[in-house]
Amino acid sequence: MSGELKKILRDQLAPEEMAIFVQSYDIVGDIAIIVIPDALLGKKRLIAGAILDLHRRIKVVARRAGIHDGEFRTLPLEIIGGEDRKETLHRENGVRLLVDPEAVYFSVRSGNERQRIASLVQPGERVLVFFSGIGPYPLVIGRTQPQCRVIGIEKSPIAHAYAMKNLGYNRRLTNVLFYEGDVRAVVPRLKKTFDRIVMPLPKSAEGFLDLALLSLQHQRWLHFYDMQEKGNFAGSIEKVKHICRQQGRSLVAATVTICGHCTPRLYRICVDALIG
Ligand SMILES: C[S@@+](CC[C@H](N)C(=O)[O-])C[C@H]1O[C@@H](n2cnc3c(N)ncnc32)[C@H](O)[C@@H]1O
Repeated sequence: MSGELKKILRDQLAPEEMAIFVQSYDIVGDIAIIVIPDALLGKKRLIAGAILDLHRRIKVVARRAGIHDGEFRTLPLEIIGGEDRKETLHRENGVRLLVDPEAVYFSVRSGNERQRIASLVQPGERVLVFFSGIGPYPLVIGRTQPQCRVIGIEKSPIAHAYAMKNLGYNRRLTNVLFYEGDVRAVVPRLKKTFDRIVMPLPKSAEGFLDLALLSLQHQRWLHFYDMQEKGNFAGSIEKVKHICRQQGRSLVAATVTICGHCTPRLYRICVDALIG
């Protein structure tokens, strides 16, 4: 798909411009999100036009105007072609997700990982998702395993409002609940324990491991996301072990799944940990 874009632009960009052109882009609903190097910003409308010509289903082209940042991990976007809007309806793993990819965090690249976690959930489980954003983990889990109950907690009021709308868009999912607030405030108020806790906040989930373990039943599963250097995945397992020791628990088993990477050496990983 992106190779075709390169073919179209080959006649319109100079060889030195082609050399720095980033040909891959994400598609969220009907919005294409592309990275354009500074030296090519003068060609942004041309690039947007080529993407719109290539995919009839894409109605908006936006460029990343910064990085995911801040507590709510939001991403500045600039519309460079198509309709003037940032909200779209995205379909993933059988669920419908309304999202403004600038106002809230949402990564289409985690779709396979969400399905992987959902496929592990057994009938009857009570699942807690920390940092639930616009709701993709809880909704995909709730759809994949209708015999479980899922709670998602999200601090950003905007992301939580989208999660509530998305519950409305997926009306059959009566096994999913969302709470707005900081997990540190909301989890103790739930007064519940869980069979599985998912922690998709790779840069800082480590600081919430103590809270998660306090709510996790004996011999149950924790999914801890971390950023880790290649060759040091054991370091992420050690973070879980450390909190287990502090709380008099044990790490019975752990496996690491690579979910993506941030730099060529820095990976986004998930530690699936069975906690005794
Ligand atoms: C990396 S995003 C993941 C969102 C979602 N799970 C997904 O896969 O699209 C992390 C989310 O955690 C939220 N967050 C950060 N700190 C939080 C906290 N202390 N309590 C609850 N949510 C928090 C952010 O607002 C953001 O939406």
